[in-house]
Amino acid sequence: MSEKQNDDTDPQTAIDAQREKHAHERDDRVYEHAAGDEQEGIPFIGAGPGHPRLLTVAGKEALEAADLVVHAGSLVNSELLSAYCDHAELVNSVGKDLEELIPLMRDAYEAGREVVRLHSGDPAIYGAALEQMDALEHEGVPTYLVPGVTSAFAASATLRTQLTLNETANHVAFTRPQGKTLDAEDDHIAEFVGMGDVTTCLYLGTHAVADTMDRLLESGADPDTPVTVVYHASWPDEDIIEGTVETIGGKLEAAGYRASAMVLIGDAAAGAGYERSYLYGEWANRSESESESASDD
Ligand SMILES: C[S@@+](CC[C@H](N)C(=O)[O-])C[C@H]1O[C@@H](n2cnc3c(N)ncnc32)[C@H](O)[C@@H]1O
Repeated sequence: MSEKQNDDTDPQTAIDAQREKHAHERDDRVYEHAAGDEQEGIPFIGAGPGHPRLLTVAGKEALEAADLVVHAGSLVNSELLSAYCDHAELVNSVGKDLEELIPLMRDAYEAGREVVRLHSGDPAIYGAALEQMDALEHEGVPTYLVPGVTSAFAASATLRTQLTLNETANHVAFTRPQGKTLDAEDDHIAEFVGMGDVTTCLYLGTHAVADTMDRLLESGADPDTPVTVVYHASWPDEDIIEGTVETIGGKLEAAGYRASAMVLIGDAAAGAGYERSYLYGEWANRSESESESASDD
């Protein structure tokens, strides 16, 4: 039974209190459990990009045992829901605020039901999981995270490439374009692309690709920089649109996709221009202690 503090706890008050707590102390469970361990409470599970086979074993087990699954609507493939949780009550979280979602999950958990919160991809990337976890924890409902495959990784697998590639991309940026929830001064896409050796993975930006590319051109980006868009990576209707900073906006508009796409900017998306890595070259013959400290595969 949870140590519920107050039936009427407002999620905002709960979030403020938990945020303050995080600033001063680490939760003991951080040291007691590793990611992937079975834990007490409501799991916040990354469903992966869509394909049912890209769910983790831990995620699948929790879904199969669930009585109530609160999921991220159209971002979660219905094939995955029918494959693993046909037996459970399914609730779409889209359009529901925390004031509705938190009591829904709390009450079900306290009534002894197995509750799962299912996010798309990995909850750590643009998932807004922590605020829900904090609101539940504040009411005495334990929670934990189960990672998933983020859509940038699914897109990279579809494209048969890597996001980092020797001599081509030394860094990866997970980012989103300015819009309703991100101010223009916090949009750093032009800086990432300007660095030259970054694969920039654009989430939440399908509808804004043309504008984003215009801003990149204004900032002096090379118009020929490759841009690859993977719509619905790993879904049955997955689609790939290839272009450049100059051409991708028009191509995407013609395709008609306004959401659910991963936009990869940089040469690595094409697997182009890379050099053989040190790892399987002369470094392979160095001593064991050197190998351990330098291994990067
Ligand atoms: C709210 S964010 C959630 C991201 C998710 N947590 C993840 O790790 O992939 C939604 C954005 O993720 C991207 N996305 C999610 N699933 C996708 C998929 N299967 N293929 C391509 N992009 C996807 C899109 O850019 C979409 O706008």
